[in-house]
Amino acid sequence: MAITDFDLVLFGGGGDLASRKLIPALYSMHRSKGIPAGARILAVGRHERTNDEFRESVNQSARPHIPAESITGELWEGFLARFDYVSMDANTPETYRALAKSLRDDANLTRVFYLATPPSLFATICNNLAASGLATPNSRVVLEKPLGRDLKSAKQINAEVGRVFNETQIFRIDHYLGKEAVQNMLALRFGNILFEPLWRREWISDVQITIAEEIGVGNRMGYYENSGALRDMLQNHLLQLLCIVAMEPPLTVTPDAVRDEKLKVLRSLKRFTPTTLAQNVVRGQYRAGHVGGVAVPSYRNEPGADPDSRTETFVAVKAEIDTWRWAGVPFYLRTGKRMADQLAEIVVRFKSLPHSIFTQPASSFQPNSLVIRLQPDEGLHLNLMAKTPGDGMRLKPVDLELDFRESFKTPRMEAYQRLLMDVLRGQLTLFMRSDELEAAWEWVEPILEFWEQDENAPIPYTAGTWGPAAASALIGRDGLQWREEA
Ligand code: BG6
Repeated sequence: MAITDFDLVLFGGGGDLASRKLIPALYSMHRSKGIPAGARILAVGRHERTNDEFRESVNQSARPHIPAESITGELWEGFLARFDYVSMDANTPETYRALAKSLRDDANLTRVFYLATPPSLFATICNNLAASGLATPNSRVVLEKPLGRDLKSAKQINAEVGRVFNETQIFRIDHYLGKEAVQNMLALRFGNILFEPLWRREWISDVQITIAEEIGVGNRMGYYENSGALRDMLQNHLLQLLCIVAMEPPLTVTPDAVRDEKLKVLRSLKRFTPTTLAQNVVRGQYRAGHVGGVAVPSYRNEPGADPDSRTETFVAVKAEIDTWRWAGVPFYLRTGKRMADQLAEIVVRFKSLPHSIFTQPASSFQPNSLVIRLQPDEGLHLNLMAKTPGDGMRLKPVDLELDFRESFKTPRMEAYQRLLMDVLRGQLTLFMRSDELEAAWEWVEPILEFWEQDENAPIPYTAGTWGPAAASALIGRDGLQWREEA
């Protein structure tokens, strides 16, 4: 579906997310002629700046995040010319008049308000947009995470934004859903006959989902200290991946059909009690170490960190889904900063052989597994057993590998670009619905409450490792290992 003419208003247009992700995504769209000729981008910020000054700041802050070879003089100048800057204080209703003057008054235009701001401003901005008559029926609002810091605040955001915009106008971003490999999970599961009959408790022994990062918190300490790995990664990205792996086949790929199924998964997650929490959830915090051969400081010594900080930079959870399909199948989820490698993957391990007809005992056979790699490369690995060439009959594990980059020569699309295009086309499938967001918070809420009262600080782990030993013990208790540690 083609993108029709639009006015895009970027609240937080001079911020970090805009420079690193949104403006590069818009440039890529501009370059591939995916933006209609008249479409405009209005960056909103508190600082007084002229349009030219803002365009120059795009040159300075966003351009370094765009591949140099994709930038040509004329194309870049044309892109910069799309930007206007509106200086306003989002808290002050009167200043919305300046914004109103800059927007085109045309019911055929799509109007998008992208709130790349702290969530504390979401309700204020939406209310002010409504009061100034800017929130029209052809408007959409995009909400960046964090969408609240617990169930109560998430509900509040949903309610307040919901008073101004209806659900079909609200686009809650989880950029993991924009990643090719995540959407490929849908293709793999529902575009092939092969896996679906095996995709259940009878054949699958366990699922591991890892998002490991080498990077630390960078210049986001102010945000991260109040967030931590659970709010930053588990409540959203990891749970969304779990939903895509575990959901029932949706009727179609229309937004509500997919979101209904994801919601059922979230609602079937087994609730933690204080006893099960202590056994099934591990939180860690990195100490000084080496990542990729470079010495890095302890989290508590990072600029801006509290020297006694109890914020977790690592979390591992054993989750269970109480449904006919998944009862008894553990889903191990983990994420952390300053880990041994940058890696995002889903590992589906199948059950062991029931019996061996070979001289090797069945227990010596590595169970089959399907590894879906999201990062750094996108691909699939299917581990099978095969005969070693030559005399005799010895079986060894082999890897059937599919590299998406090799298989598809078409250029990749960054997650933010895909999602922005979907916003502009009004396509909601890859965005979270309000009830999904609340169900995810509802499940993590007992963990947050438990940690609040727990006197034990997060378990230290050395930067550049796979996290605290307790995370290995969590899965080790079930006789298993994380894939990288096997
Ligand atoms: C963001 C988190 O949502 O995702 C960051 O706030 C994290 O802390 C990032 O680094 C990871 O995204 P990606 O796409 O780099 O894996």
